[in-house]
Amino acid sequence: MIATHQYLVAVIGAGPAGLFGARELANLGARVVLFNRDIKPGGLAEYGIYPNKYTMKSGLRKQFRQIMDNPNLDYYGNVTVGSQGDLTLDDLRALGFQAILVTAGAQGTKWLGLPGEDLEGVYHAKDVVYFYNGLPPYSQKPFRFGRRCAVIGAGNVMLDITHFLSREKKVDEVIAVVRRGPVEVKFDKKEMEYVIDNLDQAALDAEIQRVSPIMQAVDQDPITARASILEALPKALPRVSETRFRFEFLASPVQMIGDAEGKLTQVELEDNILVAKDGDTKAKGTGNKRRLDVETVIFAIGDKVDESFGLPVEWNEFVKNPNPHFPIDGKSYESPFEDVFVGGWSRQASSGLVGIARKDGTNASKVVWQYLQQTKQPIEPKAEAVAAKLKSLGKPIVLKEDIKKLEAMEIAETQKRGVEEFKYDNNDDMLQAMRLKETV
Ligand SMILES: Cc1cc2nc3c(=O)[nH]c(=O)nc-3n(C[C@H](O)[C@H](O)[C@H](O)COP(=O)(O)OP(=O)(O)OC[C@H]3O[C@@H](n4cnc5c(N)ncnc54)[C@H](O)[C@@H]3O)c2cc1C
Ligand SMILES: NC(=O)c1ccc[n+]([C@@H]2O[C@H](COP(=O)([O-])OP(=O)(O)OC[C@H]3O[C@@H](n4cnc5c(N)ncnc54)[C@H](OP(=O)(O)O)[C@@H]3O)[C@@H](O)[C@H]2O)c1
Repeated sequence: MIATHQYLVAVIGAGPAGLFGARELANLGARVVLFNRDIKPGGLAEYGIYPNKYTMKSGLRKQFRQIMDNPNLDYYGNVTVGSQGDLTLDDLRALGFQAILVTAGAQGTKWLGLPGEDLEGVYHAKDVVYFYNGLPPYSQKPFRFGRRCAVIGAGNVMLDITHFLSREKKVDEVIAVVRRGPVEVKFDKKEMEYVIDNLDQAALDAEIQRVSPIMQAVDQDPITARASILEALPKALPRVSETRFRFEFLASPVQMIGDAEGKLTQVELEDNILVAKDGDTKAKGTGNKRRLDVETVIFAIGDKVDESFGLPVEWNEFVKNPNPHFPIDGKSYESPFEDVFVGGWSRQASSGLVGIARKDGTNASKVVWQYLQQTKQPIEPKAEAVAAKLKSLGKPIVLKEDIKKLEAMEIAETQKRGVEEFKYDNNDDMLQAMRLKETV
């Protein structure tokens, strides 16, 4: 039974943080309206997690379905919120929303401002990941995956991209370019299992030998670091290509070089040394530069939040109120605007797994609830005003029932095609499947 007077909250973004955050608020008794840029809910759980992690993805989808069924929650997909979006934060305020929780992930691109970033063949990981996970419009964009590819970074995203390049694109060579050394890699053993059979171990040994003096200068043990990287070997997934995977440690890209047609041909790297600082290490350029012949460079160095959203941004993240009214574990979930809150990757960009985003979204909602209780009175939510505003946008708006239709169609297609999973990868087909657009 839904109360006639409720707190009215807008949650922006239906990734894990937004969905679990919306559930928390709905369970506490708020009326929640979830606006999502993508047609489908799930965020990076749907469009980031590697496509063949079927069990994990279907388990998450099941949880998301249950959340979407909550009668205190409305879903509007295909709606972008932001200063350049379909609705601005002020539009939401004018519609009566008493608090706005931003869980829109980290949709900005962390460009480093290097020469040649605009060459064909230079990409950021998020775009590539969205591409191979079938998220429109990225799924429809042309990418140039050449025979030799450099991936910048040493996190799990670098390994996911290497997984794609070695097991799907079957390129000749993938070179992971890592600004610090073998001790500072951030990926997990489990993710390494997918690609370690493609790792050129002789090249790894030579590389570790090359950087050993630099490691030893900051009291690092190259032998332990090597063993840690190779921990995945006992459970290595047998390779399906001859792709040679190798590391270039202690190197940072300084420029990308292209041919007359604007296509990438080389990446220039600067060698680094390690400098101990505050109990950690930093990479410091030596001035020594060298070039690798590559046709593709993919930056897997994390993302930043969307600067065009309409909230102030500093250091790749939305600015948080440094003196929060409702801190949780010492963390601020509050933006500088008293009615706007942040959670998940919108609070801390590119940080942690789904479980962390879930907890963060839930915490953010607890903060929103405290704010509402202390400063607002429940109101009679005007669903019609929101519906009328959305109708005025003149574009198809996707509701909970539509998502159910879409999922049913995808399940039917999966069975018809006899594949592990079928997923529409363009908006027209999704809208047609939901009958929100006429078949042409
Ligand atoms: C390549 C990759 C692989 C990963 N693999 C794993 C894994 O195997 N296991 C694991 O546990 N974790 C994995 N993660 C981490 C996990 O995906 C994240 O922790 C989690 O998805 C972050 O959740 P979020 O809700 O904060 O943001 P997101 O998942 O990014 O969700 C953001 C949502 O906001 C919406 N949105 C964006 N902008 C707007 C806007 N302006 N208006 C309205 N809506 C908007 C988007 O449509 C999206 O639905 C992976 C991450 C990446 C990048
Ligand atoms: N399968 C999975 O479970 C899975 C898959 C993908 C992602 N995820 C999670 O999603 C989160 C994000 O992953 P991620 O790989 O994007 O981030 P990450 O783990 O933080 O790794 C980013 C890498 O980029 C490097 N880097 C950052 N800025 C750089 C710069 N300016 N120049 C050169 N290198 C730079 C970092 O080096 P420094 O260490 O020197 O900063 C680091 O090696 C992580 O929590 C990850 O575990 C999980």
